[in-house]
Amino acid sequence: MSFVPLLELRGIGREYRIGQIRVNALKDIDLDVSHGEFVSVMGPSGCGKSTLLNIIGCLDLPTSGTYRLAGQSVQDLDDSELSDLRNRFIGFIFQTFHLLPHFTAQANVELPLVYRGVSKKERRERALAALEAVGLADRSRHFPLQMSGGEQQRTAIARALVGQPSVILADEPTGALDSRSGLTVMSTFERLNREQGLTIVQVSHDETVARYARRIVRLLDGSIEREEEVVGLRGA
Ligand SMILES: Nc1ncnc2c1ncn2[C@@H]1O[C@H](COP(=O)(O)OP(=O)(O)OP(=O)(O)O)[C@@H](O)[C@H]1O
Ligand SMILES: [Mg+2]
Repeated sequence: MSFVPLLELRGIGREYRIGQIRVNALKDIDLDVSHGEFVSVMGPSGCGKSTLLNIIGCLDLPTSGTYRLAGQSVQDLDDSELSDLRNRFIGFIFQTFHLLPHFTAQANVELPLVYRGVSKKERRERALAALEAVGLADRSRHFPLQMSGGEQQRTAIARALVGQPSVILADEPTGALDSRSGLTVMSTFERLNREQGLTIVQVSHDETVARYARRIVRLLDGSIEREEEVVGLRGA
């Protein structure tokens, strides 16, 4: 058992430069996320939420500070090492589901394993297990357009889970859903976190959605304004 946090950010900054103009999208962010945590990042539009999630997911590098993912300093890695780290540890969920329309739910979920050269039999078993984990065992043969928005997003969650990531990063996972479908996605996250100890960091604008997590990190203008624990019933 190691006590190194899964995600460890120290003094993280991200500066964008466009000609003479500099935008400090993130300033001096200190954040630890341990194995098994469920964290929501909130804050007004433009405050740096997606920038932060992209850095955590190794899709982008900070311009200052240090970020360690599972003890590994990401700023020391080259592109191929970064993508290895990303493939091993990270599962991404986006607002739009990015499912392939001509593939069934099962085939969509199998896809990351195809790229990893996993055998057909094992792919099938793992995809079905992942669909079952998100409550969609009976939708495996459906195409995306034959599923509700919430079911499509849960299929995307199954696709992220099938690679057995250490952390799920979700940027406004309910942003394209009506509130009822959004809540089915949040109950799925809540259950995966509670039953399987899956670490989740999500971005949301919606207070009800954010409160499915156990901790809320509030960003303002690129800085952490405050953090709070969520007590009591989730989503309440
Ligand atoms: N590629 C880029 N080049 C220049 N500036 C950028 C770039 N990406 C983001 N920014 C700026 O960085 C700041 C943070 O952007 P970010 O996308 O992280 O915000 P956000 O909190 O996710 O907002 P939203 O809630 O609208 O999605 C914004 O001021 C944005 O204009
Ligand atoms: Mg954003």
